[in-house]
Amino acid sequence: MSWITFKMWVPLKLFVAIWLLAQGACDAWGYEDNEISSCSLSNDLIKEIEDYAPIVHNIINMTVNGTYKRSTWQELSTFVDKFGARPSGSQVLEDSIQYMLNRSLNVNLENVHGENATVPHWVRGSESATLLEPRKKDIALLGLGYSVGTDADGITADVIVVQSFAELKTRAKEVSGKIVVYNQKFVSYGETVKYRSKGATEAAKHGAVAALIRSVTPFSLYTPHTGMMSYGENITKIPAACITVEDATLLNRMADRGERIRLNLKMEAQSYPDKISRNVIAEIVGVEKPNKTVVISGHIDSWDVGQGAMDDGGGAFISWNSLAILKSLNLRPKRTIRAILWTAEEMGIVGARQYIQEHRAEQSNLQFVMESDMGTFEPVGLDVTAPVEVMCILKKVMSLLTPLGDMKLRSPAEGPDIEDWINAGVPGASLWNKNSKYFWYHHTNADTMLVENPDALDMNTALFAAVSYVVADLSYDFPHLK
Ligand SMILES: *[C@@H]1O[C@H](CO)[C@@H](O)[C@H](O)[C@H]1NC(C)=O
Ligand SMILES: *[C@@H]1O[C@H](CO)[C@@H](O)[C@H](O)[C@H]1NC(C)=O
Ligand SMILES: *[C@@H]1O[C@H](CO)[C@@H](O)[C@H](O)[C@H]1NC(C)=O
Ligand SMILES: *[C@@H]1O[C@H](CO)[C@@H](O)[C@H](O)[C@H]1NC(C)=O
Ligand SMILES: *[C@@H]1O[C@H](CO)[C@@H](O)[C@H](O)[C@H]1NC(C)=O
Ligand SMILES: *[C@@H]1O[C@H](CO)[C@@H](O)[C@H](O)[C@H]1NC(C)=O
Repeated sequence: MSWITFKMWVPLKLFVAIWLLAQGACDAWGYEDNEISSCSLSNDLIKEIEDYAPIVHNIINMTVNGTYKRSTWQELSTFVDKFGARPSGSQVLEDSIQYMLNRSLNVNLENVHGENATVPHWVRGSESATLLEPRKKDIALLGLGYSVGTDADGITADVIVVQSFAELKTRAKEVSGKIVVYNQKFVSYGETVKYRSKGATEAAKHGAVAALIRSVTPFSLYTPHTGMMSYGENITKIPAACITVEDATLLNRMADRGERIRLNLKMEAQSYPDKISRNVIAEIVGVEKPNKTVVISGHIDSWDVGQGAMDDGGGAFISWNSLAILKSLNLRPKRTIRAILWTAEEMGIVGARQYIQEHRAEQSNLQFVMESDMGTFEPVGLDVTAPVEVMCILKKVMSLLTPLGDMKLRSPAEGPDIEDWINAGVPGASLWNKNSKYFWYHHTNADTMLVENPDALDMNTALFAAVSYVVADLSYDFPHLK
């Protein structure tokens, strides 16, 4: 995931208060982790859900122990090793999309097709930064998506180091003609990412010539992290890049000692005209209510560094392989299950926004939408946004997953690509996993297969396959929140 609306990053321990219900199926509930009070599903519905236990256990056993063990890792590693990074606008992204359309046909998925989306085409080019004073040193950097470049000689200027936007404002008179280095503390991704997205704009307001931002990560082994930025309206576009935590703190110490810091920055970054890309669609068509749909999804594009194995190869492949496994097990639910591999998420949720907009007319047919884009480490459960009846049903469904451990529910759902659906009231969930190290690798050259654990991928695949199958097959049509 890349592009963050602040709302998605509110503290994770969110206590959801009182929900008023017309039907009185459940009077009210609040939950934190697995606590959902006052669920009173009908006995018929409880029995119906419990009857899925043998199917669910078979899905899980076959995925983590049996025929499909390690198949998600195999599919994912074959894919990311073949294509590597898959940035928006690139031919390699389109080739990887064609490959997944082919793969989907090979495993007999249905309605396999691409749906066009217009996507941005930003190219990094080569880039470098050199510290000139107080001593010569190469500074590792990654330009930020949508940043402008420099001319061939680059920008040579004095550096001012600040630790916050507040300090920038206080020292506004010192900024003109300088390169602003932000050495902000890492609080949380959601809180700290504003320096990456708005740092150039804030610096340019005071006449800065470039902005270098400390990478947004809690941990560093001299790894710069890229990501998206944007320019405010009527603001001079100055080049923007992230540098390592090591170098940001080094420059800060030099500045604290009163040393003059001079730096040369060269970036070839450039935006080209938009391209046509595709969201990848594959289905198992429902046997009774084909137009009612459960979506499982992740994004197929990545940043232009690393392999995009974690962000979001893992998320895309647990979704896609769930569908392939259900198909191979000959499980055809009442409703359709649709896997979507979104395009151009990293440049601003571009493919998903167009798809959701174009499919507004069928939105009321969505039973449940799922996404994984926050790592595929060992699963904990699901982050869900849904009406209380649906939460109660999901809680019961999670109790079938005990072979995977104690799978829990939490709120809200956090998927960037499904966010427009969630905001429109469609019930949905994102994978909750043990992703405390996610931002160590996020948007770096270290996002490779080494991050992905085959057993965790199996467990996540089993979770997505089992949940999507049961909610697609239940007799009950899920209500929407709006
Ligand atoms: C995997 O297989 C072992 C041995 O048959 C069994 O004990 C275990 O429960 C299985 N795991 C799952 C998740 O089914
Ligand atoms: C898992 O599947 C294997 C065959 O692949 C079977 O021998 C074993 O009994 C199953 N275990 C469970 C817990 O279902
Ligand atoms: C997709 O399949 C077609 C026909 O089987 C083949 O010609 C093409 O090379 C394949 N493309 C990719 C990207 O795998
Ligand atoms: C999708 O885009 C391609 C060009 O890349 C174009 O040839 C095709 O007609 C478009 N399809 C639709 C349905 O717009
Ligand atoms: C940008 O400039 C235009 C034209 O001068 C003006 O109409 C607009 O309000 C400005 N926008 C902002 C955010 O200042
Ligand atoms: C299902 O959707 C398709 C396309 O949106 C439509 O043509 C068809 O009439 C629908 N079928 C039913 C049974 O609603």
